[in-house]
Amino acid sequence: MIFSQDRNAAELYLRKIFDGRLIFPPVEDPKKILDCGYGSGAWAIEAAEKYPDAEIIAVDISPHLKPEETPNNLWCQVDDLNEPFNFKPEEFDFVHSRLVAPGIGKSRWTGYMKDCFKVLKAGGWLQMVEIYFNVQSDNGTLTEEHGLRRWSKTFLEVYEDKKDLRAPTRLQSMMEAAGFVEVQSRMMPLPLNGWSRDERDRDIGNLNCSNAKDLINAMALWPFTERLEMSLEQFYVLIARARSEIDDLNLRPYFPLYVVIGKKPSA
Ligand SMILES: C[S@@+](CC[C@H](N)C(=O)[O-])C[C@H]1O[C@@H](n2cnc3c(N)ncnc32)[C@H](O)[C@@H]1O
Repeated sequence: MIFSQDRNAAELYLRKIFDGRLIFPPVEDPKKILDCGYGSGAWAIEAAEKYPDAEIIAVDISPHLKPEETPNNLWCQVDDLNEPFNFKPEEFDFVHSRLVAPGIGKSRWTGYMKDCFKVLKAGGWLQMVEIYFNVQSDNGTLTEEHGLRRWSKTFLEVYEDKKDLRAPTRLQSMMEAAGFVEVQSRMMPLPLNGWSRDERDRDIGNLNCSNAKDLINAMALWPFTERLEMSLEQFYVLIARARSEIDDLNLRPYFPLYVVIGKKPSA
């Protein structure tokens, strides 16, 4: 799980950034929905409640965050998205895939897109939401010497042999290559603190701030110290510096958040 244990903060800022909307494309009266990598189940549970006549199938490789009580129309299964899907072709009206990119193998992306395409009914939609873990500054004040930039550069490179952490920037072209049409991509800055003058974005940044501080530690500890053999001391110096920059409103830091939708052509 890439988020901190403070799952509520992550769920709250996602809800706020999307104004509580679960499905962005024009999907009316869905009968069957697939949620890839359900995590805490928050999205899948809300979808099950919002569409009581739909069947929601949610899969995750690691079901430990699954709540004990789930709506009757939600089925949570253990499954690895890196393996070819076992679902029947043309089974779903909508496929949702959010914040799973760090768990997708580098060579799996093409197959993952094709599997999503295959299991959708004609006219069904895929919606993907991914963070690009490459911290940017809204006013260009972050330099390569900053801890946040050093963290980003190292994090994007440390798994280069196994993962494609730049995939979020290419979701649109990958969806088009898999056959999706009407593909639309939008980058939304996900502020790491309350730097924005816009009240809504400031709230999102404030909700995300402590989560971002936990996340840069939790996601990087093992790869930086084991794969790069950075000493624990060097690691914590970097994290302390990056965390103090997360508190710096003048740096206006954000993660690019990519939201991409695409439709399987109608029959
Ligand atoms: C950051 S959480 C996101 C949860 C949820 N999609 C959301 O947006 O709140 C990522 C989830 O993806 C799951 N995951 C990562 N790689 C996976 C894989 N190869 N197969 C299935 N689930 C995977 C993790 O176990 C984790 O629960």
